[in-house]
Amino acid sequence: MFELTVELSQLETISSQAKEFEQLIFFYEAGLEQLETKMNILKKGYQYDNMRCPINRIQTRTKSIDSIIDKMKRRDLDLTYSNLINNIYDIAGMRVICPFLNDIYTVQSYLINQNDIVIMETKDYVKNPKPNGYRSLHIILLVDVSFSDTHRKIPVEVQIRTIAMDSWASLEHQINYKKENHHVTDDMKAQLKQCADISWKNDLVMQNLLDQAE
Ligand code: GTP
Ligand code: MG
Repeated sequence: MFELTVELSQLETISSQAKEFEQLIFFYEAGLEQLETKMNILKKGYQYDNMRCPINRIQTRTKSIDSIIDKMKRRDLDLTYSNLINNIYDIAGMRVICPFLNDIYTVQSYLINQNDIVIMETKDYVKNPKPNGYRSLHIILLVDVSFSDTHRKIPVEVQIRTIAMDSWASLEHQINYKKENHHVTDDMKAQLKQCADISWKNDLVMQNLLDQAE
């Protein structure tokens, strides 16, 4: 997809501001901007129609060179740009936080219906939560972006979740996720799972109340 000559392994030793990496990140940022514009149009449509909006807030980020290299090493990938582009799909990441449970699937439908977006992969951890209690809808998509001289399909990982799911995940991440943290005992993990279950019940009740009120 990209024409870059420098091998990533060189980036470990030369400055992380290397021109090639900046160019790569520029493409992914353009993908995020295009997607964010779409989300803002969706939000404005609801405002215009005086309807409740299915989006509470949106966050975006691109992955740092250090995290990219760590992830490629974890996956035993040689540190080349072509391996990076063809294997790592969360360089551009967007999180869409929704008020209510069903809003997650409203946002998903909106993405599916865009004619300049192709869905590559969907993991529904809302209906099938991870054993630790994590819930979220993960979508990897390709968004078409027009540049001055060409069009490119840019991969973006979108995580869609409720406020309650986001609150749990943010705190759990600080306590536990991917840390070799030996202070997190099985009992503590069980308590984290209980918190996730409480959040889930909260989401179900809130959705039910909304359905009754509407
Ligand atoms: P990564 O190597 O982390 O990208 O995992 P993956 O490619 O197997 O994808 P997965 O769908 O499992 O997770 C992708 C992202 O979801 C992570 O980078 C986190 O942002 C988030 N995530 C997944 N599992 C958890 C979890 O148990 N707790 C929290 N807080 N976040 C999670
Ligand atoms: Mg990831």
